Amino acid sequence: MIILSIETSCDETAVSLIKVEGDFPHATYEILGTGLLSQTETHAPYGGVFPSLAKRDHIQNLVPMFKVALCEADLYEEGAQEITHDDEQRIREILERETDLADALLDFIKQTKLPEFDLITVTNGPGLAPALWVGVNFAKAMSHLTKTPVVPVDHMEGHILASIYDIEEDDALTQIEFPAVALLISGGHTELVLMKQWSQYEKIGQTKDDAVGEAFDKVARLLGLPYPGGPEIERLASEARKENIPSFIDSLPRPMLHSGDLNFSFSGLKTAVRYGVADRDLNSDEIKSIARDFSDAVKDVLITKTEHAVSDFGARTLIVGGGVSASQFLRDEFNEHFLHTSSDVTVYFPHRSFSTDNAVMIALAGHAKAMTARSGSSVDLIRADSNRTLS
Ligand code: KG4
Ligand code: ZN
Repeated sequence: MIILSIETSCDETAVSLIKVEGDFPHATYEILGTGLLSQTETHAPYGGVFPSLAKRDHIQNLVPMFKVALCEADLYEEGAQEITHDDEQRIREILERETDLADALLDFIKQTKLPEFDLITVTNGPGLAPALWVGVNFAKAMSHLTKTPVVPVDHMEGHILASIYDIEEDDALTQIEFPAVALLISGGHTELVLMKQWSQYEKIGQTKDDAVGEAFDKVARLLGLPYPGGPEIERLASEARKENIPSFIDSLPRPMLHSGDLNFSFSGLKTAVRYGVADRDLNSDEIKSIARDFSDAVKDVLITKTEHAVSDFGARTLIVGGGVSASQFLRDEFNEHFLHTSSDVTVYFPHRSFSTDNAVMIALAGHAKAMTARSGSSVDLIRADSNRTLS
């Protein structure tokens, strides 16, 4: 089975072609080709993702990324897709709010012979509505052109499966033990999810305000660091640790550490940094010190809450996923911590290239969904759902 997979929920335009052999959860997933373009430069001046600019960039970049994926997969063939006037009309209807994308796609297929796909998977939420719609409508247009079914996918389910996709060994999903707890930490989400079985999700905790990645990005901004803030704070914090720089702000809070539930809050932590910084001109050691103190506070909260979840539900597997899971510091701290707790839990982080948004993870989740018959609605009825949630 060949899957065409599309992800445009936030600020990465991603298209992948995946060859699947076997049935979920024992299939292998060979990445044939992938086109991925990050919009960080577009959003950097705003310190966060600007939805209408994200939409504009997705419109501009989807067809080029599709072509990159086809070429890498050796599936690009010059020629022309036969389309009737009615088909062309239909594509223009589907992409009526993305007219530049309709033009680009129609131009492209007049010079390209499209391969056959067996399934199209696309993120339809959660994410930024204007950004999601571009991917969803592109998937619908491709479905019409290639007569291929579409499976709409939950972005967070993608992050979960990305964390147990073993690209280095066998291109397959690791056969984990249940129950599993997933800690999902990204720019838009911070949540704990319980999995009693494959494809069964129950949200057991979430942030009441900012997501972890958002807190990293906002604190970076307070410190005058570029967007996205996570990698910058990670780099400076690690220098502060190596150089043993003393603490600059007295003890940052660990919000909701003892709240007795599995929820999070990060806006108070960000505010504490803001007060600590005030209007002072910080030197580079002070910036490094704050970066370290902030990432220590985040780490303490994440580990403590996750440990509660693991012990409350007797989890055998802990899956950490989402953009913030790219952090080497968090990887080391989680691995070290759970090695020494009494709970017998195996910890999984995604391969570095799959921690931030990508389309491979959407193919994994879409294939799971297609095989467990949780889909089946008509392509015309698929809608972007920015508040979509795992339940
Ligand atoms: O999953 P993702 O790519 O997009 C969303 O679905 O939101 O996550 C992006 C977030 C950003 O907030 C970014 O600052 C954060 O992941 N991030 C990191 C690191 N790399 C990316 N946070 C901490 N440390 C990192 N190394
Ligand atoms: Zn994400």
